[in-house]
Amino acid sequence: MSMITVQLGQCGNQVGGQLFSTISNDIDGKQHMVSSKENKEYGDQVVQRFFNRVDGRDIIEARAVMVDMESKVIAKTCLEAKKGGKWKYPDKQQYCQKRGSGNNWAHGYCVHGPNVKETVMEMVQKEAEKCDRLSGFLSLLSLAGGTGSGVGTFINESLRDEFPHSFIMNQVVWPYNTGEVIVQNYNAVLTLSHLYQTADAIVVMENDHLHKICSRLLDIKKISFKDINQVICHKLSSLFLPASSSDDNISQNDLGMILHHLVGHPEYKLLTIRNIPQMSDRSIEFSSFHWPGLLKHLRQMLVADAAMEEGIDWQVNAGDETPRGSVRHNRSLANMLVLRGKDVISTDTSSYLDPKLYTSWTDPELGFSKLIQPRAFNNYEKCAALISNSRSPIRPLNHIIDKAWNMFAARAYVHQYTQHGLNEEDFIDGFVTLEQVLASYKKL
Ligand code: GTP
Repeated sequence: MSMITVQLGQCGNQVGGQLFSTISNDIDGKQHMVSSKENKEYGDQVVQRFFNRVDGRDIIEARAVMVDMESKVIAKTCLEAKKGGKWKYPDKQQYCQKRGSGNNWAHGYCVHGPNVKETVMEMVQKEAEKCDRLSGFLSLLSLAGGTGSGVGTFINESLRDEFPHSFIMNQVVWPYNTGEVIVQNYNAVLTLSHLYQTADAIVVMENDHLHKICSRLLDIKKISFKDINQVICHKLSSLFLPASSSDDNISQNDLGMILHHLVGHPEYKLLTIRNIPQMSDRSIEFSSFHWPGLLKHLRQMLVADAAMEEGIDWQVNAGDETPRGSVRHNRSLANMLVLRGKDVISTDTSSYLDPKLYTSWTDPELGFSKLIQPRAFNNYEKCAALISNSRSPIRPLNHIIDKAWNMFAARAYVHQYTQHGLNEEDFIDGFVTLEQVLASYKKL
C-alpha cells in the first residue's frame, strides 16, 4: 500500500523534506539487528509505501506533491533532497506562485485556494496513478500561517471530493504559545474547524513541546526548525514505518489499519504521539535500554499527559480524581503502541490494558492495540511510540479558542479576513465546531 504526502506552505514543505530524509536514512541504517534478507524486505516495503522506483534509474522519488505560494522553500527543499543523492522529488509536481498568503487564512482559502485547485489536483492525480494500491494521503501543514492553513484546508477539501474512498490524515504543527503571528489563533481555529469535517484524523504536534524535547533530551543549544522537524519526523516515522499487528503478524500499519484502531468515532479525530527513548546520538552509544523501564515511563507520560520522559509527574495515577470528582489523569479512547527493535515479540505490555487508562465506555481489549517490528529504528536498539486518542488536546485547544475568541469579541483584525470574502458567521461556525470538539474530549 502506498501513501501520498501533500506538503503545504513553508512548514509543510520543510517537514516533508525532513520526513523523506529520515525514512531514507532509516533504510540505510547499519544497526538494523535483523538478517540481510529481512532488512531488504523491510526496505522494499518502505520504498513502496513512500517512494516511487523509476525504471532504469537508481534514485527513488518521493510520492509527494508540494504546494506553496512562494517558491523559495520548495526550491531549497528539492535542492537539499537532490544533494543528499539518495532520493529526489518527482519533476513538475511542485506548485508555487510569487506571493505568500501573508499569514491570512482567508487569503489562502478564499483567493489562492480556488486559483490553485485545478493544477494541484492534476498533480495529485498524476501521483495517484503511479501507485499500485493507494491507501491515502498524509498532508502536512502548520496552523498559524496563511498558505499551509488556508490553501491547505482548501486542498484537503478538494482531496476529499476527488478521492472519496481514500483516507486522509493531517499532521498539523501547533504554533508557539507566545506567538510569532498576531492572528495565529484565528488561523488555527479556522483550519482545525474545517479539517474536522474532511480529515479522518489529525495528528497534533506542538512547537513548544518539540522545542523542549530538542533542548532537554537532545541537548541542542541553538534550536532551529530543522532540529524540531527531526523530532516531528521521528514521531511520524515511528508510526508509519512498517510494523505489524502482534496478534497475527500479518496486518500492516497502513493508514486504514491505523485509523480503524485509533479513530472509531467521528467526534474524536485528534491524535498525539509520544516516543521513548529520545536522545542525542552521543548519548545512545552509552545507554542500554530495557523494555520494562521504557514501557513504564511511556505509560506514565500518557497518564500524566507529559510530552517527554524527563520531568514526568509520578504523583498522578491512573484513576485519580480531583476532590470535586473531575479527572486528574489523562484518559484515552484508544492507544496504539508500536515497538521496534530487540525482543519485541516477548515484551509484556499488559499494563496498557488497565481499564483506568480508558474512558468508561471503552473496552481496553478494543481500545488498545500493539504493533511490532523486530528491525531497529533510527539507531535505537529498542524504542517505542504510543499514539493516543486521549484528553491531551484539551489544553492546547482551550488555549487557541480562548485567545481567538477574545480577539474576535473586539472584532480585532476581522476586516483583514472579510476583505477576502470570509464572513463573521464563518468565524462563529469555526468556534462552534471547536467548542463541540472540546466538549466531546472533556467527556472522555
Ligand atoms: P504564509 O507565510 O502566510 O504564506 O503561510 P505558510 O503556511 O507558508 O506559513 P508557515 O508554514 O511558515 O506558518 C507559520 C507557522 O509555522 C508558525 O507557527 C511557525 O512556528 C511554524 N513553522 C514554520 N516553519 C516551520 C518548520 O519548518 N517547522 C515547524 N515545526 N514549524 C514551522
